[in-house]
Amino acid sequence: MNGPPLFDGSGPIPGNGSVLSDEIHVALRDVPAWTPERKLDVITIGAGFSGLIFAHKLQHQYPEMQQLVSHKIFEARDDIGGTWLVNRYPGVQCDVPAHIYAFPFDPKADWTNYYATGPQIYEYMRDTTKKWNLDRDIKFNHRVLETVWQEESAKWRVTVQNGGQTLVEYADLLISGQGVLDKWKWPEIKGFDRFTGHKCHSAAWDNEFDYSNKTIAVIGNGSSGVQIIPQLAKLPNTNVISFQRSPNYVYTPFTPAALLGGDDPSANPEYSEAEKKRFAEETYAHRDYRKKIIHLINSGFTRYVKGSRLNMEARKAAKKQMEEILQHDPDLCKKLIPEWSLGCRRITPGEGYLESFLKPNVQLVMSPVAEMTEDSCIAGDGRSFKVDVVACATGFDVSNKPQWRMIGRHGVDLAEVWEIDPESYLSVAARDMPNYFMFLGPNAVVAHGSIIEAINWTGDYVVKWIRKIATENIKSVVPKAHAVDEFIAYSDQIHKTFVWTDSCKSWFKRNTTDGRVTAAWAGSALVWKQLMSELRCEDFEIEYRSPNRWVFLGNGFTSLELNRQNDLAWYVER
Ligand SMILES: Cc1cc2nc3c(=O)[nH]c(=O)nc-3n(C[C@H](O)[C@H](O)[C@H](O)COP(=O)(O)OP(=O)(O)OC[C@H]3O[C@@H](n4cnc5c(N)ncnc54)[C@H](O)[C@@H]3O)c2cc1C
Ligand SMILES: NC(=O)c1ccc[n+]([C@@H]2O[C@H](COP(=O)([O-])OP(=O)(O)OC[C@H]3O[C@@H](n4cnc5c(N)ncnc54)[C@H](OP(=O)(O)O)[C@@H]3O)[C@@H](O)[C@H]2O)c1
Repeated sequence: MNGPPLFDGSGPIPGNGSVLSDEIHVALRDVPAWTPERKLDVITIGAGFSGLIFAHKLQHQYPEMQQLVSHKIFEARDDIGGTWLVNRYPGVQCDVPAHIYAFPFDPKADWTNYYATGPQIYEYMRDTTKKWNLDRDIKFNHRVLETVWQEESAKWRVTVQNGGQTLVEYADLLISGQGVLDKWKWPEIKGFDRFTGHKCHSAAWDNEFDYSNKTIAVIGNGSSGVQIIPQLAKLPNTNVISFQRSPNYVYTPFTPAALLGGDDPSANPEYSEAEKKRFAEETYAHRDYRKKIIHLINSGFTRYVKGSRLNMEARKAAKKQMEEILQHDPDLCKKLIPEWSLGCRRITPGEGYLESFLKPNVQLVMSPVAEMTEDSCIAGDGRSFKVDVVACATGFDVSNKPQWRMIGRHGVDLAEVWEIDPESYLSVAARDMPNYFMFLGPNAVVAHGSIIEAINWTGDYVVKWIRKIATENIKSVVPKAHAVDEFIAYSDQIHKTFVWTDSCKSWFKRNTTDGRVTAAWAGSALVWKQLMSELRCEDFEIEYRSPNRWVFLGNGFTSLELNRQNDLAWYVER
């Protein structure tokens, strides 16, 4: 006989999609609806801005989380801070205005300048951590080595190294705050190990070493190199040789003092004592100022549309500014001003960078270091330069792969599948990795504005999932493979319209010129914020801990109405 058998009264009822089985007849749970069955064990990896903001949400912003969650943060290093703990090179500074690169729950009123230095940011993070007790759940010197999903128990088995000890813990939810620019590496240069002089990397700078009276090769001119070069050039009796493979836009689009009605032409003006006092005493004034900067950044996003009039105009203005600073030196202008669209690589204010190349002790070599000997760098064009120091500002491992072995559902190894392409669900989750959420995963909002906002919105999003998982008796949630595939396919279309798909080489494209955009979000920060405000459960496979998903309805009462003193008519509109 062809076609489905006729319904004989046993098994599924055809047509209405429901299943008749003894399994769904579960016992009444005599507790108010949404009463959690258990406290969730949540493990977060990393105590940089991501881990700390998340800690604040669980400890303070959402007090009900105390009842729902038991939290631990494993941090490989011996202190908080992440990026701002370890990047201690001369000139390290944030290129997002200090007042908006701040903990959303406790912005600082008395920044000294428009842009903060790295050490100032670290200090602020340390003070805020103490003030809010954010290190309560942090286990320092605990490096996560492995996380393996246990299908049966729906838990992550987390293996951690603490000194000589290895411990194993289990988590219902695993959260990555491993950062996107944390793992640095030496550049791959022939003979690199033969060099016997001093070697350092921007992310592991040796501040004990005396760089004065030295000839220093600086390799790389991304945001880090741009900050390092002028500082080394300022030291007594140094010769700085900047090896560059391609130029970079160094540009300040406006004078920041104008935002407060000032006329200081500096790219990084100081705040007056009166301004600091006002921000501290009048929280509205501080908020308005912060909003003004954020509005400016959000409204400027249209500039990043490839080939747009606004991008062309901004590019023209940047070129003009750079030419003026370079005193119209034709050789320097040709070498240091890019041909590709403004914004393709992160634009940096780079105070004093271009000016350095007008100094007699700074030499520009538009060629990579092809080889190193015991005491010299040999450029790709064959020239040899004897140097005492090689300073690598050569960037990070931007593969997005987890810094630990991560095995999800069906034995899927995340690092292995991301070797080809790091594909995420909206930057916050991954295929085959149940109950796993990421801060700043692949395609996060990193290309414009303050990353801190994206971290904050991610934290709120994860809290929504935690609340749902805990109170609706959910076993696991994982993005549907199709939802991820379709997201990648569509967002790649959007990316084509933005400047980062132009012909520059950048870490947004995993240090390629024409690869997929794997770091930046496809569109504006505001689109992403709105998308994150809902869970979009239709994009997820959800498994429940009970055969009947409605067990969370309990005895049919809400806990609110069990106390008659509560306002039980709060929903009346008029
Ligand atoms: C030099 C530099 C300048 C920057 N400037 C800006 C800027 O101007 N504006 C901007 O928006 N962004 C900037 N960034 C990006 C910056 O990384 C983010 O803004 C932000 O600090 C990221 O915070 P995070 O907590 O996500 O990651 P991180 O600060 O990188 O912290 C990650 C933490 O995870 C820990 N960790 C990693 N793996 C493990 C493991 N296996 N086990 C345990 N712990 C682990 C690390 O030890 C680290 O403490 C800059 C980055 C660099 C490197
Ligand atoms: N607040 C700030 O101002 C600030 C400061 C530092 C960092 N950051 C953040 O961190 C990101 C990374 O910045 P970064 O400067 O550390 O790294 P980056 O932008 O990746 O720049 C790395 C530089 O090193 C060069 N390079 C890499 N390997 C090389 C090799 N083998 N030989 C020669 N040159 C080599 C690259 O040249 P090619 O381009 O030719 O590959 C590039 O110029 C930034 O985009 C920004 O988001 C921000």
